[in-house]
Amino acid sequence: MCDMSNSLLTAQHSLLVVYPAIPNPECFRDGTGLLAHISDLPKYFINLTISVNRYSFNERKKLKILVTGGAGFIGSHITDAYINAGHSVVIIDDLSMGVQANINPKAKFYQIDIRDAAVKDIFERGKFDVVNHHAAQVDVRKSVDDPMFDASVNIIGVLNLLENCKASGVMKFIFASTGGAIYGEPRLRGEQDYFPADENHPVRPLSPYGITKLATEKYLFYYEQIFNLPYIVLRYANVYGPRQNPHGEAGVVAIFAKKMLEGGQPHINGDGKQTRDYVFVGDVVRANLLALDYNKSEIFNIGTGIETDVNILFNRIKILTKSACDELHLPPKKGEQLRSVLDASKIKKVLGWTPQVALDGGLKLTVEFFKNKINGK
Ligand SMILES: NC(=O)c1ccc[n+]([C@@H]2O[C@H](COP(=O)([O-])OP(=O)(O)OC[C@H]3O[C@@H](n4cnc5c(N)ncnc54)[C@H](O)[C@@H]3O)[C@@H](O)[C@H]2O)c1
Repeated sequence: MCDMSNSLLTAQHSLLVVYPAIPNPECFRDGTGLLAHISDLPKYFINLTISVNRYSFNERKKLKILVTGGAGFIGSHITDAYINAGHSVVIIDDLSMGVQANINPKAKFYQIDIRDAAVKDIFERGKFDVVNHHAAQVDVRKSVDDPMFDASVNIIGVLNLLENCKASGVMKFIFASTGGAIYGEPRLRGEQDYFPADENHPVRPLSPYGITKLATEKYLFYYEQIFNLPYIVLRYANVYGPRQNPHGEAGVVAIFAKKMLEGGQPHINGDGKQTRDYVFVGDVVRANLLALDYNKSEIFNIGTGIETDVNILFNRIKILTKSACDELHLPPKKGEQLRSVLDASKIKKVLGWTPQVALDGGLKLTVEFFKNKINGK
């Protein structure tokens, strides 16, 4: 089979998503229920691209969508997918973390803070059907250091958007929440009560970031009940993939991949046995596409149900990058959650979403992306 994974990645705004209409998903699965082989991906992308485009243009309304955070990691992939599905997209992003290179040239872009009063003009001009909200202060540690700033972006910013949705008759609000930072039990040092956590797991966030995400979910409920604004909350596990920022504190895959490709030595906090649920960005995008077609208000987990520890991640990325470095362990970060994993069977039942990209395939795509970036491609 011809391997087109490189060309998929080097094209500026290629289709790095697996679209919803899966002809026969079983043929792409391995024993874990996920896509097994990276070499299967390109053909798969192409077939599904054709089918989603046909479906979108012939049978679906072309939507006007505002994507906040559309210059960032996840928001830029969602923008690409919405545009490829025939919708028109306006992006607002202050470029505090996002970059110009991520912005799809077919989207209209405003560099503006979501808290800015001038956002009102963008709503008035855009007459949006849907708002997909991905802009945020995303750094958990920063939220601990400066909870007021965190709340100002993640709560006041959201309220600015919601008030404008109310005033301009937006029909749906899609919100990027977190499954990694709200399920926990303070008496057990932030650990989940059970594994994997479904949407009914108690929500007891132990960081200002988690609190603002949960508070936004509550505001969404309020705006839906009182002002009839439907919402979809997607509680993501640990999202990884091309375009993830390798400079922050989060995004361990991007950090390890870039460092190893540059011949550096990444470190592991503690014994590296802490687990997370790593979900590929293309799968997250597909949930955001499916959310457009669902007309009830709902909260869905987006994860794989599979726990992977940091040592395993380190060693898989080491092989993919052909790095010579060995595990380097530093003292554990105080208060770090030991295990986090999500049960996404609700969205499977309701929308037919399941993760399609297995960790090895997703890691390979991610490493290829950073390799091309380092080589200036
Ligand atoms: N990456 C993950 O694993 C993960 C997990 C759970 C939830 N999320 C949520 O998904 C969303 C996207 O995360 P990401 O990983 O793509 O992060 P990101 O930093 O790449 O994207 C966030 C974008 O928001 C923009 N932004 C920040 N503050 C802004 C402001 N005040 N006004 C306008 N734009 C602003 C940034 O410039 C950036 O482009 C966030 O809401 C995040 O909380 C991410």
